[in-house]
Amino acid sequence: MTVVARAPAKINVLLAVGPLRSDGFHELRTVYLAVGLHDTVTAGPGEGLALTVSGEGAGGEVPVDGRNLVWRAAELLAAHAGVRADATLHVDKSIPAAAGLAGGSADAAAALVALDALWGTRAARSDLLELAARLGSDVPFSLLGGVALGTGRGEQLAPVLTDRTWHWVLGIAGEGLSTPAVYAELDRLRAAGRVPDGTQLLPAEPVLAALRSGPPSALAAALGNDLQAPALGLRPELRRALRAATDAGAVGALVSGSGPTVAALAEDERSAVTLAATLAGEGVFRTVRAASGPVPGARLIS
Ligand code: C5P
Repeated sequence: MTVVARAPAKINVLLAVGPLRSDGFHELRTVYLAVGLHDTVTAGPGEGLALTVSGEGAGGEVPVDGRNLVWRAAELLAAHAGVRADATLHVDKSIPAAAGLAGGSADAAAALVALDALWGTRAARSDLLELAARLGSDVPFSLLGGVALGTGRGEQLAPVLTDRTWHWVLGIAGEGLSTPAVYAELDRLRAAGRVPDGTQLLPAEPVLAALRSGPPSALAAALGNDLQAPALGLRPELRRALRAATDAGAVGALVSGSGPTVAALAEDERSAVTLAATLAGEGVFRTVRAASGPVPGARLIS
């Protein structure tokens, strides 16, 4: 018997970053949106753990041992449920790695769902969310999906209402960026007084109001990401990528999470297709994908 689960990529339509906490994390106020770009995890019987990866980031960028969140998810769920961590796992990635799209978190969330089914451990939803939070700040959202306000280090979630499907074009420019490096660059810019110090977090209300009732121009005006300045600092060519997105007709654009993905908001589905085609033809981005959301979080598909 094998089981297959999939989990979506996310965009942070708002990512307000507070000061560095004593535990090494930053206090966040973020609004996550799950979009229709998925990784799948297939789990079957095994002796111990075995992991293979195909698709985006396979053969180098994505580790296939205990450093992979899928592996850690398996060990954590097994310990929680009191079963042996026996499984053969395969991850097929469509979400680019180290792109600010929570690809690794999606894999971990999908692994929890797949292994819970494979092992028949029937973990309570609240237990899975708690295990997810131990794996990473974004993993609970990858499990939940939809749209949610995240606080704490991003792991405390409250669902958010939206009245429509939002159409995006995701442009991945250059190599991956390390999330800790982007947070560290933000701390450096703050210490140097080059950006606000984060004691006044950006408000969520404009984004929440725009998600409730639109139109896309209102959401575009409310988008915000405190990690954009440090991502631009580490990767100056992202500035050109953001400009390319708005020049090509996006109603708004921002760096997704810690980058380097540029998330460009389109007016509607048709405009997203046109925007994706234009951006793909310009050579600014390594990969261009149209993706809309909200979509559900990690779930079994077979
Ligand atoms: O939670 P996760 O393992 O994904 O976080 C990776 C890194 O990103 C952390 O080690 C930390 O450097 C940074 N981070 C942070 N504040 C957060 C979330 C992540 O500083 N709220």
